[in-house]
Amino acid sequence: MHGFKIRSLRVRDMNISWLNLEDKVAVVTGGGSGVGRACCLELARNGARVCVADIMQQNGEAVLKELESIGGMHSFVKTDVTSLESVIGMASAANEQLGGLDILVNNAGINIPALLVDPAGKQELTEQIWDRTASINQKGAFLCAQAAIRSMIQTGTHGVVINMASESGLEGSAGQSIYAATKAALYSLTRSWAKEVGTHGIRVVGLAPGILEVTGLRTEAYEEALAYTRGTTAEALRKDYGKSGIPLGRPGTLQEVANAVCFLASERASYAHGTILNLSGGKSRA
Ligand SMILES: NC(=O)c1ccc[n+]([C@@H]2O[C@H](COP(=O)([O-])OP(=O)(O)OC[C@H]3O[C@@H](n4cnc5c(N)ncnc54)[C@H](O)[C@@H]3O)[C@@H](O)[C@H]2O)c1
Repeated sequence: MHGFKIRSLRVRDMNISWLNLEDKVAVVTGGGSGVGRACCLELARNGARVCVADIMQQNGEAVLKELESIGGMHSFVKTDVTSLESVIGMASAANEQLGGLDILVNNAGINIPALLVDPAGKQELTEQIWDRTASINQKGAFLCAQAAIRSMIQTGTHGVVINMASESGLEGSAGQSIYAATKAALYSLTRSWAKEVGTHGIRVVGLAPGILEVTGLRTEAYEEALAYTRGTTAEALRKDYGKSGIPLGRPGTLQEVANAVCFLASERASYAHGTILNLSGGKSRA
């Protein structure tokens, strides 16, 4: 019995250093909520120094407090991923405050349900929704990747960029066409950037979660809007959401996404490059 306890302790010790993220600096955009927050916490639990980059100051600072309770050195930088100036400031802050930039999690994103054509004229895709979604989800990912990779090349860092896509990028999604299109763009950008920067020892990968447990993105207003685009009610949508059509029979957890991010960020995934990991519980193709 005593021997068993010692063995299990050793296994746990090995798990702590298995990912070897100690001393790495990770910047997580949209780190103030949902998936981004979970990534910040798991990266820190694995020893990384984390820079929370979010447009929402209060949320970002709250996550910073949680990180400080885990231990280690972390920071929050108010960042608007759609602004070049703000993104350059984010990369500089990570370098100056935390001593480098090894991992970028390109996670900030929005999703505003709308139909291409709504005969009732209630919820139609507008130029404004199109521009705002593309600006945050797609241009934001470009600006952040460019600033991070520039920093990695200048400092000779063999870093990693992780793009937060979505299964809807490959599958399409009724009522979410511009969202899905921006996520499809992340598939393509991941592959192209991987071809450009691999020779610098920098990896570019992505994750495509399916339906997840509730985050900041899934507000009541969002559920009402999505239900409308699908001709159902928010209540009916909620009942079925994350169950039907998912072989694992449940939505993914934020922790499961964060675990995959830590794996992809680590040397354990050193030959994963230009690829997107599907995390949809078996719902969609890889
Ligand atoms: N929740 C899901 O079911 C799901 C599924 C697949 C993919 N995703 C992706 O995960 C990512 C995070 O989504 P979430 O569900 O955690 O949503 P969320 O709303 O909880 O978090 C998004 C974060 O991005 C921040 N943000 C928004 N605009 C920004 C900007 N201009 N600059 C900086 N930060 C900004 C928000 O303040 C927020 O903290 C998104 O890219 C989303 O597409 C989510």
